Amino acid sequence: MLKERIAGLLDQRLSGHSLPRDFYVDEQIFQADIEAVFETDWLFACSTVEIPRPGDYLTLRVGHNPIVVLRNREGEVVAFHNTCRHRGSQLCLKERGRANRLVCPYHQWVYELDGSLINARQMPDGFDTSGYSLTPVHVQVICGMVYICLADEPPSLERFRAGVTPYIAPHMPDRTKVAFTSTIVEEANWKLVIENNRECYHCAANHPELLVSMVEFALPDDPQAKTQFQGLMDRSTARWDSLGLPHKPADGGIEFRCIRLPFNENTVSFTTDGKPACNKLLGDFTEQDLGSVRMFRVPHNWNHFLSDHIIHFRVLPISANRTELRTTWLVHEDAVEGVDYDVEHLTAVWLATNSEDGMLAENNHRGILSRAYRPGPYAPSEFMLTHFTDWYAGKMGDYVGTPRTAVAAE
Ligand code: FES
Ligand SMILES: [Fe+2]
Repeated sequence: MLKERIAGLLDQRLSGHSLPRDFYVDEQIFQADIEAVFETDWLFACSTVEIPRPGDYLTLRVGHNPIVVLRNREGEVVAFHNTCRHRGSQLCLKERGRANRLVCPYHQWVYELDGSLINARQMPDGFDTSGYSLTPVHVQVICGMVYICLADEPPSLERFRAGVTPYIAPHMPDRTKVAFTSTIVEEANWKLVIENNRECYHCAANHPELLVSMVEFALPDDPQAKTQFQGLMDRSTARWDSLGLPHKPADGGIEFRCIRLPFNENTVSFTTDGKPACNKLLGDFTEQDLGSVRMFRVPHNWNHFLSDHIIHFRVLPISANRTELRTTWLVHEDAVEGVDYDVEHLTAVWLATNSEDGMLAENNHRGILSRAYRPGPYAPSEFMLTHFTDWYAGKMGDYVGTPRTAVAAE
């Protein structure tokens, strides 16, 4: 029934338009989103520097699935379903923590950091602990970013890895530390949170802090861009070329986007005054003004890599009308708070922007509940929404068994 209903909605859908209402507001379709998208694809979990030492862990929830990502004794990042093999209690209850072993809070079964059960008190003699290891989750680490996949057979991440590594590696994310994290919940469907992020059509009227430094144009040859932007772009690309920093759009199709774009004239970072956010630059950089590498990967993760800091954004759906956005700011591992950077100066722009975007997504969600809502056409500058919704329709088509042809990449 549900699959037939989804197939019918996919038939109604027009590419280049916002989606039919039920894709944004219906709880059953939300559950289908979790199964079709979040339980099959690679998801950004965290940065490796959030769990630097053996036993450090971080938890997240993918639909109804509690997950724990941790650093094992060998220093590798691993992940497990965060559910005890006795009677299923959640094991790790905090969002972040450190444990020598994972001890279930219910009846104290004890697990090694490799997921094996090493103690199950009061169980009968001969109880074979080897059959009760934690259920593993696939993990891949790409440029300090931990991706997890709940599928039995995860799709390949190699195109993504090869595509983004040349852009991100010079920023040396392994030599960073967490300066700040923020988590907010928006009363909006997760796809509206992503759609909002994928266009800057709304920026001029809504993001005074962001537009101090960020150019609104998404492509080097944006047809909407003024000659002034072209001059800035030409000067920036000449400098990046001389430094060996890639900048042209990566060939990510509708799976991912990676590009380096300049900041506005006389600004070098995402700060309210356009000045550096951290005086200690990342990697071996000696120049403040490197623009930012903007990287997005379906379904839910966007990032900025600057000369002086990195920002990761992770979107997790909670229900059809609630979505969590977690933002992490990283600076050089040797940067000293109060000396090299000030947390308020570092975070002000994106804390404000996230809050503004949250309100926009919530307004969007409430408007879509109207019986008068009809899918509307995307503007040319919203081309990434066409990519995203075409990709989404492809995933849902696969899920309901009527595969759609993916639209060609930009
Ligand atoms: S549910 Fe974990 S020890 Fe009982
Ligand atoms: Fe925005």
